[in-house]
Amino acid sequence: MTATLTREAQRVGPLADRLSGILADRGIGPSAAAEEPPPEPVTALELADARIPARYRRAVADHPQVTAWADQIARAGRPGPGGPGIAEGSSLLIVGPTGTGKTYQAYGAVRALLTRGVRLRWEATTTADLYARLRPRPGHDAERDLQALARSPLLLLDDLGAAKTSEWTEELTYRLINHRYEHLRPTLITTNLPTAELRTVLGDRIASRLAEMTERVILTGPDRRRSTPATRPR
Ligand SMILES: Nc1ncnc2c1ncn2[C@@H]1O[C@H](COP(=O)(O)OP(=O)(O)OP(=O)(O)O)[C@@H](O)[C@H]1O
Ligand SMILES: [Mg+2]
Repeated sequence: MTATLTREAQRVGPLADRLSGILADRGIGPSAAAEEPPPEPVTALELADARIPARYRRAVADHPQVTAWADQIARAGRPGPGGPGIAEGSSLLIVGPTGTGKTYQAYGAVRALLTRGVRLRWEATTTADLYARLRPRPGHDAERDLQALARSPLLLLDDLGAAKTSEWTEELTYRLINHRYEHLRPTLITTNLPTAELRTVLGDRIASRLAEMTERVILTGPDRRRSTPATRPR
């Protein structure tokens, strides 16, 4: 054992000498590597931006209720090694007609938490994608996927009530919302539906929980997608 180590050590000497000779010929001194700047650390915001759809990657939550929510969640965060983590907290229901900026504000809220230094595990899905993803099919554990979304410290549920519903979607949405309701998990929900319609489309059990667990943010104005750049509201 010792003999092997000694033989290996003896071989490294001439090899290292040859290597430094080659480097010296090329004008690279032994200190060259040490002088290179360390790689820039990747921030939590950069990591999150990579997961945010390109259209909302620079979203800045500029609605006062949304920024107030981000401040409140950041303040209530549990201290952790990389910054405060999200524990329990309130949720937002961002309501408004098409193109008023609901999804923009929701991703802006996720980014706002990260810029406030909150250590954040988050998931985002539209309800239509959620139902497609959880549809029973062989070899796929839909229950595990549902639990991952239900337990995620922060969930963005986009376009609630926009997908075609059935008893199955109603039950699945109920289980997801109910889990987040019971455990006080911060959830960002967007919808086109006004309150009364929300109840009709989603059922009273879901609407009732949303009424208690969320603060309503109402967005108004024209469809930002249709307004020309000159008239587009900021
Ligand atoms: N505050 C804002 N500042 C700049 N651009 C914005 C702002 N709000 C929204 N936008 C832009 O306007 C467009 C529509 O916004 P968004 O997709 O968030 O609308 P929405 O309300 O979610 O619509 P839908 O109900 O159809 O899902 C997007 O291109 C978005 O980037
Ligand atoms: Mg949207």
